[in-house]
Amino acid sequence: MALRMKACMFVGLFLLSLAWKAAWAKVQVNMEDRVEVFLGDTAQITCMFTVSDSPDNVIIQWYMITKTNVRLRIYYGNGTMQVVDRGGQFTDKISVKGMGNSSEVVLTIRDVKLEDELEFICHVNGRSDGSDEGRTVLKVFASPDRPIITGEESGISVSNEYPTKIGSCEAKNGYPRPNITWYRDQSSLQNTQDGVIVGTLVTKESSGLYTVQSELHLNVVKKDKDSFFYCEVSYLVPGGTKMTETNKINITVYYPTTSLDVWVESPKGSVKEGDTVEVHCRADGNPQPLFTFMHNMEELESDLNVLVLKNVTRQSNGNIMCTALDLDTYEESLGQTELFVDYLDPAILIPKDTHVMAQGEELMATCNALSSLPTHTVWFKKGKKVAEGHTLTLKDAVFDMAGTYVCVVKVSSLEGLETSGSLRVFVEGRPEIKKSADPVQEVSPEKSQKLSCHARGYPTPVITWSSSDKSQILKLSQRETEDEVLSVVSIKVTSDVTAYCNASNDHGTVSISFSLKAIVPTTSSAPSTTVTTPLVPVTVVAPVTVTTVTPVTPPKRVKKEGSGVIIAVIIICILLLAILGSVLYFLYKKGKLPCGRSGKQDLTKPNKGGIVVEMKSDNTEEAVLLSVNGDKKPPSDQ
Ligand SMILES: *[C@@H]1O[C@H](CO)[C@@H](O)[C@H](O)[C@H]1NC(C)=O
Ligand SMILES: *[C@@H]1O[C@H](CO)[C@@H](O)[C@H](O)[C@H]1NC(C)=O
Ligand SMILES: *[C@@H]1O[C@H](CO)[C@@H](O)[C@H](O)[C@H]1NC(C)=O
Ligand SMILES: *[C@@H]1O[C@H](CO)[C@@H](O)[C@H](O)[C@H]1NC(C)=O
Ligand SMILES: *[C@@H]1O[C@H](CO)[C@@H](O)[C@H](O)[C@H]1NC(C)=O
Ligand SMILES: *[C@@H]1O[C@H](CO)[C@@H](O)[C@H](O)[C@H]1NC(C)=O
Repeated sequence: MALRMKACMFVGLFLLSLAWKAAWAKVQVNMEDRVEVFLGDTAQITCMFTVSDSPDNVIIQWYMITKTNVRLRIYYGNGTMQVVDRGGQFTDKISVKGMGNSSEVVLTIRDVKLEDELEFICHVNGRSDGSDEGRTVLKVFASPDRPIITGEESGISVSNEYPTKIGSCEAKNGYPRPNITWYRDQSSLQNTQDGVIVGTLVTKESSGLYTVQSELHLNVVKKDKDSFFYCEVSYLVPGGTKMTETNKINITVYYPTTSLDVWVESPKGSVKEGDTVEVHCRADGNPQPLFTFMHNMEELESDLNVLVLKNVTRQSNGNIMCTALDLDTYEESLGQTELFVDYLDPAILIPKDTHVMAQGEELMATCNALSSLPTHTVWFKKGKKVAEGHTLTLKDAVFDMAGTYVCVVKVSSLEGLETSGSLRVFVEGRPEIKKSADPVQEVSPEKSQKLSCHARGYPTPVITWSSSDKSQILKLSQRETEDEVLSVVSIKVTSDVTAYCNASNDHGTVSISFSLKAIVPTTSSAPSTTVTTPLVPVTVVAPVTVTTVTPVTPPKRVKKEGSGVIIAVIIICILLLAILGSVLYFLYKKGKLPCGRSGKQDLTKPNKGGIVVEMKSDNTEEAVLLSVNGDKKPPSDQ
């Protein structure tokens, strides 16, 4: 029995010692669950331990768990030596730091590869203290390339029965595999939604990285034409999740036409006759269907959505209809507009064209033009406004009222609508002669004198010329309008004569007389003629002095002027002599002038004709200088 008790005690002690031993094991290892690192970076796995003994005496061993779940040692180290196991995937790229006195070792893995994503075990053997181990999983990450979106180029019809491809997104070379989410505007699109299909294709590249492609198929609706679509790519990175978005795309949505819009595009505003009218038609569908235009139920050729009506008239008024057949739904739509063309007819004048009225009579003329719009009428005579409104009233007709009246009718509200007409008014009556030249004129004898006579009256006056002494009257010209005559004659005067211009018509005769006085040239100015003769082209001077109207007292004036002229001539002569003298002296000095000759004789030579001329001193001077110059040459010839 005692023996049995002894045995029991022994077993109990043994068990107790076992329990004690477990409770007092002095090695404890602490490690993180996971260490996260980017592909290619360096990973550091820390193994912290506590031992009661000196840390110098511990043995550290690192293991990895292969993909096939095999535990392989990759490192061994004690106080004196450290060994990296040969032949493994980590042989060349791991190192362990912190051996010796410290209570933590760090396993460093350089240039982490995807296949390094494994579980690592740190085993610490404290000999007398026993042993312990910890585990850390190494996680490797690779961010995908910037995602790319491609949209469907062709239009998508809302009437498609099944979801149609909208586009595709691709995120390349990510690890672990990225997720792609589609968005329409602000909201994400899920496979679970009606009419949405998101197809995802994941490819594992030879590098071990993932490429994800996602295609979106949709039952598009009309409002998708204004939507934009894009993808969001989410992927893991050490310590979190990151997201990037693609560009936004839009799609062309085809939807049926339900109504048409028709309008006159040009001209803007009112249309007037002669305009070219452009009518546009637009459908509310996409694409635009083929349009057909009807103008007052007549089909017209058109270019796509534009109908051009050239040179419209009021007959073009009416309905313009645009129809279209939707090729998707085979439904016909229709739109229409009304065309209204404004017009202004030619002006109608009453009386028409011409009107003859007696002096003292009254005329009420009207000018009207039919228009679709209010008009404004203005009457003009010789470009001057004489009346406003449809009616022109001429009271107490006198000759001055005769003439052409133009009425201009305008539509003030529409630029370019304008018409006009004219009325010629004749006022009947005895002719009137317009006073022109002075009836008394003096003429040099043997000269022809021009006389003109301007008469007006209706019917057209007939002008006859006569003279008191049957002098010869030569008709030079006659200009005639329906109520005016201008007659110009030339009369040869030998002695004082009276010429008559008689103008007559059915209503009487009027006459005007011209007294022509023949003046005999005076000889009192003879001394001066010697000098003035170089001016002999008297033909120029003479007619001027004659035709200009000279007052009735010419003889006196001639005399008066004559004395002044004589004084001037004498002064000029002295001046000329002085100049001549100096010139002669100069020439003599130069030895070019043979003594004894002078230009005096030459100067007197062309002295002919006995007409009195009102001289101008500067002319004479010039003339003399000219003759001196003329003299200058002959000597050089000698
Ligand atoms: C360390 O390990 C080596 C080889 O196993 C051994 O020869 C050496 O004695 C050990 N050193 C200590 C201090 O335990
Ligand atoms: C460990 O030993 C090194 C020298 O080998 C010494 O510099 C360091 O301070 C010691 N660290 C501890 C925690 O004892
Ligand atoms: C990807 O989607 C799966 C399933 O929805 C989810 O479990 C995972 O966390 C996602 N990954 C990322 C990086 O967002
Ligand atoms: C997409 O949107 C842009 C700008 O909003 C526009 O110019 C383009 O025409 C649209 N493309 C399609 C296919 O709708
Ligand atoms: C416009 O129409 C009118 C009347 O039909 C015609 O007299 C005129 O010559 C036309 N003008 C042009 C430019 O075709
Ligand atoms: C023109 O009128 C004058 C005066 O009135 C008259 O003496 C003369 O005979 C008339 N001449 C002609 C040709 O009628």
